[in-house]
Amino acid sequence: MNEPTRSPATKLTAPGYIRHQKAIDWVGGIAALTKPAAVVWCDGSEAEYDRLCDEMVRSGTLKRLDPKLRPNSFLAWSDPTDVARMEDRTFICSRSKDDAGPTNNWVEPGEMRATLARLFDGCMRGRTLYVVPFSMGPIGSHIAHVGIELTDSPYVVASMRIMTRMGERVWDVLGKDSYFVPCVHSLGAPLADGRKDVPWPCNREHKYIVHFPETKEIWSFGSGYGGNALLGKKCLSLRIASVMAKEQGWLAEHMLILGVTPPGGRKVYVTGAFPSACGKTNFAMLVPPPAFEGWQVTTVGEDIAWIKPHEDGRFYAINPEAGIFGVAPGTSLKTNPNCMAAIRENTIFTNVALTPEGDVWWEGMTDTPPARLTDWQGAEWTPGCGRKAAHPNSRFTAPARQCPSIDPEWENPEGVPIEAIAFGGRRSDTVPLVVESFSWAAGVYLGATLGSETTAAATGAVGVVRRDPMAMIPFCGYNMADYFAHWLKIGASVARPPRIFCVNWFRTDENGKFIWPGYGENMRVLKWMVERCQGSAQGVKTAIGYVPSFDDLTWKGLESFGKERFERVTSIDASAWRAELKLHGSHLDAFEARMPAPLKARRTELDRSFA
Ligand code: GTP
Ligand code: SPV
Ligand code: MN
Repeated sequence: MNEPTRSPATKLTAPGYIRHQKAIDWVGGIAALTKPAAVVWCDGSEAEYDRLCDEMVRSGTLKRLDPKLRPNSFLAWSDPTDVARMEDRTFICSRSKDDAGPTNNWVEPGEMRATLARLFDGCMRGRTLYVVPFSMGPIGSHIAHVGIELTDSPYVVASMRIMTRMGERVWDVLGKDSYFVPCVHSLGAPLADGRKDVPWPCNREHKYIVHFPETKEIWSFGSGYGGNALLGKKCLSLRIASVMAKEQGWLAEHMLILGVTPPGGRKVYVTGAFPSACGKTNFAMLVPPPAFEGWQVTTVGEDIAWIKPHEDGRFYAINPEAGIFGVAPGTSLKTNPNCMAAIRENTIFTNVALTPEGDVWWEGMTDTPPARLTDWQGAEWTPGCGRKAAHPNSRFTAPARQCPSIDPEWENPEGVPIEAIAFGGRRSDTVPLVVESFSWAAGVYLGATLGSETTAAATGAVGVVRRDPMAMIPFCGYNMADYFAHWLKIGASVARPPRIFCVNWFRTDENGKFIWPGYGENMRVLKWMVERCQGSAQGVKTAIGYVPSFDDLTWKGLESFGKERFERVTSIDASAWRAELKLHGSHLDAFEARMPAPLKARRTELDRSFA
């Protein structure tokens, strides 16, 4: 297993089962550049995972949680400067700046390569370089893609084993010369000259998450956290995959996938594109309220969907991931019991609080907080202390198969047929609870103008409306106007494209409180959407699309909500919409020349409706 590099320039010896000389040579080249003390070829076995976790417990990176309360589970506390994705440090380095578009950071590829060569030179000194082969999508599926991540972080290796299909089996798929996406990751914290390690190494000064879309390479430096470091996730499955999808005629999307089965009825699969920390995990694992007896909701994915047109005229989607990487705060037995069951064991928690009994806690997990905790920065915490016990972007990493609502088809290599797409963001006003678009193009307009009030998942200001088209602003690997054009084209390429909806669970009252109860109660909206797909539900025509009237939704079990509050979450206020359309205008104007005509036309139509 352990293959120490005798000197950086020596040719590497890979395990005998690896026949892919190009991959071996690539690893050798990166080892020569980064100069690790050792190279480990990961096999993805449980024994390897256990060994890495034990090592991390010894080094202080992980704490083992109480084996009875949280079997085989660990807690990591990150460096306080390394707690979320960093969009301002994420780069799309296409040859032409226009191909990255106005929404991406761009640096000329040659210049970026020079920077990376400098940063990565010797950056793994004193550390181990792990070779992590992984498949996004079921191993061997024609929809799946293979990547190899080279990383000096054992936390990343352990997390990748949960989040992807990782290990020896991937080399079988790769054979002698199959294609893989090369992904290089370093914490950027070499242990030179006997420097002592810290529990969460990272580089506080330099962080780079870099993509070369033309050569489909990923280079990440300086961060060990989530989407910055688990390169199969946002970097490969969204930024690089979105480029592949445009080239090959499919969609790589920031979407949950769920199945809904009405009592005795036909199952309908729905995807949902909500920006980061806007409720994809919750919606994907929705538990219908008691009044919906016989209705079943199942989970295919909670963050990413790869969607392909099928000969039968429909789109089919797979979840390329194998694990869930969800936001901890707000997750409870009340809001998401399926998720709470999924994270009962075999889970890595990051930046949540530790209880005296050796379990985890975060804001919203229970109504009454424990009397004493150790917070995510290792400090004593009591309920009145005025600090958050868990970081707002604290997360858990758990195998998706542990989710009780996991769909029986979730690993079907062919995917599941999609009948509806829901876009949704956090909007305290203007945007109604649900609206169905008139057409595919009008739906693409809804997606292209999606807005959301910002949260802690990304760094930056919290609570301002940010346009996040299709929830893909941080994840589209090319010019977003070309991406809109691709959406229009792909919808027109199938006979039965999904219906497109827009949802908003987040309208607030004059005290800033959410009016709509949300979570399981979102079933009422989901049911209407499914029945619209099946042609059995009524809707009222408005300027922005079809909406349900009060009587079109089921109120059994929520009679107290009432017509007045329904009005407050569904009203379409003309003056608010005139202001909204102005904002759409300035947002869309940024795409200028590349903006597809059907979206411009839809904007003009909306302007007229509200004039
Ligand atoms: P990423 O993993 O960052 O892509 O995000 P996600 O979309 O999966 O986010 P997640 O489901 O973890 O959303 C978490 C946040 O949304 C928490 O603060 C929840 O409390 C909140 N949330 C989810 N569903 C609802 C809802 O129906 N109503 C309200 N008010 N809040 C919700
Ligand atoms: C998101 O921010 O949309 C996430 C979390 O899903 S991370 O993987 O860190 O990007
Ligand atoms: Mn996400």
